[in-house]
Amino acid sequence: MAKVDVTEYRAKQQWGDAARADELSRKYCQYLEDGEILAFEATPFEFSKDDREFLLSQKQSGLKVHKNVSYRPSQDLLRGDACETPEDNQRLHDIMRRYSKEVTRFLSVFLAPYAKHWALDFASYRPLEEKGRDLPAHKRNDLMHVDAFPSRPTHGGRILRVFTNINPTRPRIWETTDKFPLLVKTFADDAGLPRFARESGSAGEKIKKAFAPVMRAVGVKGLDRSAYDRFMLHFHDYLKDSNDYQTKWAKTRLEFPAGSTWMVYTDQVPHAAISGQFMTEQTFIIPVKAMVTPERCPLRVLEKHCGKALVG
Ligand SMILES: [Fe+2]
Repeated sequence: MAKVDVTEYRAKQQWGDAARADELSRKYCQYLEDGEILAFEATPFEFSKDDREFLLSQKQSGLKVHKNVSYRPSQDLLRGDACETPEDNQRLHDIMRRYSKEVTRFLSVFLAPYAKHWALDFASYRPLEEKGRDLPAHKRNDLMHVDAFPSRPTHGGRILRVFTNINPTRPRIWETTDKFPLLVKTFADDAGLPRFARESGSAGEKIKKAFAPVMRAVGVKGLDRSAYDRFMLHFHDYLKDSNDYQTKWAKTRLEFPAGSTWMVYTDQVPHAAISGQFMTEQTFIIPVKAMVTPERCPLRVLEKHCGKALVG
């Protein structure tokens, strides 16, 4: 896991050393695309103590924040009335809006090569303790997996997530394993990649895509998923179901201290959230064309493995 010295980066910007700042940005993109996690001991963007304390207090005072809170920046929409009073709901909404804007502002400089290309996805606040959650296997966060979105196909676009552990005292604990290319080499064929590759670009896929907008209007989603999206969704479940992968692969424990921030391509880096409570997260979808090293992205790794384009 690469630890980032933000001081150095900020100093280069401050001194007007634009070329060096740009070079550093590209280096950080490269780290991420290589499957590294960039971690900051202190949160590198504005996230006030008041805002954090309000989020923490909602759980501690036993109010309704008992599940994840989701915020959609493009619509400025907070899902669900998480707090007990309209005033508190409004404040929660303001905090999530501010948080999302600050993360985005920071990233647009820190990862400048991506900024013109990304689609801003959802932000969330996760107040639940990860350890011991009672969830169905495919929804469990403590089983090793890579991310794929059932309702928002990316067509090869990358899932970049920025996390902040706002817990005042306890770390968030993750585990990870060997990197994506080894996962593909070991499991992709058994997980059915050749079948997904055969379907890619087929007449059946084209018909589904043609009807996707009409069907979406009547509530049937997902017909416009590419073979890549379908495989990644399946791979997510396959890995969680694989006893071999879950129990026999060597795991590395990662500890994200209270107050720290980290960012990672979760569609590429295997991860399991073992314990931790109170975390915020903002997701960005980054298209393959914005990659500094596109050959390393999951889409290209899978295409190379099966010898077929997976996005039509
Ligand atoms: Fe995940």
